[in-house]
Amino acid sequence: MAAPGGARRQPLLLLLLAGLLHGASAVFTVKDGNGTACIMANFSAAFSTNYNTKSGSKNVSFDLPPNAEVLNSSSCGKENASDPTLMIAFGRGHTLTLNFTRNATRYSVHMMSFVYNLADTEIFPNASSKETKTVESITDIMADINKKYRCVSSNQIHMNNVTVTFHDATIQAYLSNNSFSKEGKTLTLPLMLLV
Ligand SMILES: *[C@@H]1O[C@H](CO)[C@@H](O)[C@H](O)[C@H]1NC(C)=O
Ligand SMILES: *[C@@H]1O[C@H](CO)[C@@H](O)[C@H](O)[C@H]1NC(C)=O
Ligand SMILES: *[C@@H]1O[C@H](CO)[C@@H](O)[C@H](O)[C@H]1NC(C)=O
Ligand SMILES: *[C@@H]1O[C@H](CO)[C@@H](O)[C@H](O)[C@H]1NC(C)=O
Ligand SMILES: *[C@@H]1O[C@H](CO)[C@@H](O)[C@H](O)[C@H]1NC(C)=O
Ligand SMILES: *[C@@H]1O[C@H](CO)[C@@H](O)[C@H](O)[C@H]1NC(C)=O
Ligand SMILES: *[C@@H]1O[C@H](CO)[C@@H](O)[C@H](O)[C@H]1NC(C)=O
Ligand SMILES: *[C@@H]1O[C@H](CO)[C@@H](O)[C@H](O)[C@H]1NC(C)=O
Ligand SMILES: *[C@@H]1O[C@H](CO)[C@@H](O)[C@H](O)[C@H]1NC(C)=O
Ligand SMILES: *[C@@H]1O[C@H](CO)[C@@H](O)[C@H](O)[C@H]1NC(C)=O
Repeated sequence: MAAPGGARRQPLLLLLLAGLLHGASAVFTVKDGNGTACIMANFSAAFSTNYNTKSGSKNVSFDLPPNAEVLNSSSCGKENASDPTLMIAFGRGHTLTLNFTRNATRYSVHMMSFVYNLADTEIFPNASSKETKTVESITDIMADINKKYRCVSSNQIHMNNVTVTFHDATIQAYLSNNSFSKEGKTLTLPLMLLV
């Protein structure tokens, strides 16, 4: 009896550790002019990249901080004219943008971009340049319309030299009911892979 109990506790412990290591998740919501939510996203994210200093290239990693906020330049889009966009700002001028698109049956984050400011000495101490850089990539984040995208384990998106790792992510756009749908496909990698 003791062995199965111990085996059940271990994954829970790993999940708790993952939560502690990657910061708390936050909920980001985009609403239209009527206050109706069109995008909701709940995740924690960690970034890693490299930058140049006088003494060579340095690697750095940092978390999306708890005080990250949705920019009012986010938008629900206009039918046939523009796509819904979630823009999250943090620190001294860093912005993560998710651009959605859809067809009759599915929606996706067709483009993700990250703008980062090398003048932020807290994240990029001794950077040789003070410029703002922009990187972007297509993503594999996709779900059926009226269902949420859910990925409990980590999902990495590589944008040039920047890698963003999402943990415990729930994302839904083209919302019909002001909240996440109950239905959604949960993608979970075996925990063994994380050990
Ligand atoms: C607000 O709701 C009204 C009535 O449902 C609709 O006609 C209008 O387009 C909506 N406005 C926005 C900004 O979504
Ligand atoms: C966001 O995700 C966290 C971690 O999975 C969960 O505890 C929380 O209830 C979620 N919040 C919403 C509004 O879905
Ligand atoms: C930076 O990361 C890259 C890729 O992960 C690695 O090859 C390199 O050795 C690292 N450099 C330093 C200085 O740690
Ligand atoms: C967005 O926020 C900026 C300041 O943060 C403000 O000047 C601007 O009026 C806001 N725009 C909208 C559409 O609310
Ligand atoms: C958007 O395009 C579809 C198909 O082309 C059309 O049926 C619909 O009326 C258009 N909507 C608007 C607001 O123009
Ligand atoms: C994302 O959408 C915004 C608003 O529609 C647009 O200004 C921006 O160029 C788009 N970015 C990419 C990488 O497609
Ligand atoms: C919608 O997009 C998905 C994924 O790209 C594709 O598999 C599907 O055939 C598309 N459906 C329609 C109706 O275009
Ligand atoms: C920044 O450079 C100074 C002097 O060049 C050095 O003492 C310091 O350790 C460097 N800081 C980091 C975080 O690399
Ligand atoms: C990406 O990293 C490589 C290796 O450190 C470096 O040579 C290159 O300049 C970097 N590219 C950008 C856009 O920072
Ligand atoms: C919409 O949300 C309400 C309250 O959360 C829920 O009772 C209702 O079943 C939902 N409707 C649909 C179609 O999901």
